[in-house]
Amino acid sequence: VLTIKGKIVLASTLVFGATLLVFAFLIYESTKQAELAKLDARLESQAEKLESEIEEQLDEHRFPDLDDIHNIHTEGLPKVLLQVWDSTGHALIGDSTLSSLTTTEQQPSRLKQNALESLRGHHKAYRCLWYPADADERVPMVLQVAAPLDPVHESLEHLRILFVVTIPAALLLIALAAHFITRTAFRPLTGMATVAQGISGSNLGERLVVPEASDEVRSLAETLNRMIERIELAFRSQRQFVADASHEIRTPLTIINSELEFAQKSATEAAVQESIRISLSEIDRLSHMVDGLMLLARLDAEQTSPQPQPFRLDEVVVETVQFVRRLAQAKSITLDLYVQEAFECSGDPEMLRRAILNVLDNAIKYSLTGGTVSVRLHESDLDRGFLVLDIEDHGPGIPDADQARLFERFFRSAEARAETDGSGLGLAISRILVALNGGRILVQSATGKGTLVTIELPRKIGA
Ligand SMILES: Nc1ncnc2c1ncn2[C@@H]1O[C@H](COP(=O)(O)OP(=O)(O)OP(=O)(O)O)[C@@H](O)[C@H]1O
Ligand SMILES: [Mg+2]
Repeated sequence: VLTIKGKIVLASTLVFGATLLVFAFLIYESTKQAELAKLDARLESQAEKLESEIEEQLDEHRFPDLDDIHNIHTEGLPKVLLQVWDSTGHALIGDSTLSSLTTTEQQPSRLKQNALESLRGHHKAYRCLWYPADADERVPMVLQVAAPLDPVHESLEHLRILFVVTIPAALLLIALAAHFITRTAFRPLTGMATVAQGISGSNLGERLVVPEASDEVRSLAETLNRMIERIELAFRSQRQFVADASHEIRTPLTIINSELEFAQKSATEAAVQESIRISLSEIDRLSHMVDGLMLLARLDAEQTSPQPQPFRLDEVVVETVQFVRRLAQAKSITLDLYVQEAFECSGDPEMLRRAILNVLDNAIKYSLTGGTVSVRLHESDLDRGFLVLDIEDHGPGIPDADQARLFERFFRSAEARAETDGSGLGLAISRILVALNGGRILVQSATGKGTLVTIELPRKIGA
């Protein structure tokens, strides 16, 4: 499976390679033709010179004077092989090498114009020119001049070596270039993917980095950013809707509550009293849930944000424990409070009060009658910048399967649902409030033994 990057590198290398091969082939062929043409031209000029020498010798009746004939040279041509034929097909001058190579049944006597052919020997190849001497008033004869093809082969060999070296090098270069160019081109994409991966409902304000160059990647980044913006808007109006809705529900609930309380006073029949009591408790549950919902919606919509200020965490803890004392007494639960020392903190004390209250409420609510809930506030053993609040109960504990879902909105274990009232929002709220103050909540629980909730808070937000 190739990446786009890999495909680009492969395709450009292949296309470039094919082009190079075609070019190499064309250059090779045209060089071959040019070299042959050069050799042929030289053979022709050698043949002309030989013709005039032979004619001169004939005029002077000293033909064949081989020394003089072999002394004739043409620039750029090594020693040539020569045979001369008369009109009857007899060799006037013979050459053993040449005659052993000549296989074609040339009819020298009938030749009217120059003819060229390549002769292949055992070790050597020759280029051979048949040259009918222009002999109007003389005995017609044909010169057969041949020169080795070595120089042609040599320059072609050079060319081949050049190609074998340069083509792979060029391919390597183009592959490297394609690799670097695509890597540079794709880098912004990789960066965008990383950022996009991190964007979720909780940080929709983030945007992809738009690259400088005005290219496709830039327009992609801008398009995606516009999409994230639309999602953010939709999210926001959704949250706003929930916040508004829960707010709107609160007022009628309050009115119904006071009307019911009023009716309760004047009702005389026991059955009516009972039904009003049930209604009131349901209204109470509903108000509790709507309160939680509204707080969550406001936190989501960032309408509520921490107001950090210096405060005493130990005081907040003591006050909160005080606040739930009546609840604990109702179940004969002992509240065991230990505060290591006075702790100056910075953070939002109201948010933390609420966060601690939810956890304490659980500890009491899920404890068995007559149990003990211990609350301990101390400095962290690991990091002196952190304070730790342990809230431990000896209740039924939480099944392992449920532990991962505790902080989900509306999550309640089956047991809790059957035996206690609640909306399942408490821990979800606590976690957000603690996180907004730079801390975190951990839960350790064993079924049948109890639950330990630990709230870790920094002494200073951002410290
Ligand atoms: N101390 C605890 N012991 C046993 N189970 C617990 C404890 N604390 C939380 N749980 C379980 O976690 C669930 C979620 O707790 P959470 O506080 O969010 O909701 P709730 O207590 O059911 O409702 P609410 O707090 O909104 O009134 C509870 O329903 C219960 O099943
Ligand atoms: Mg709760």
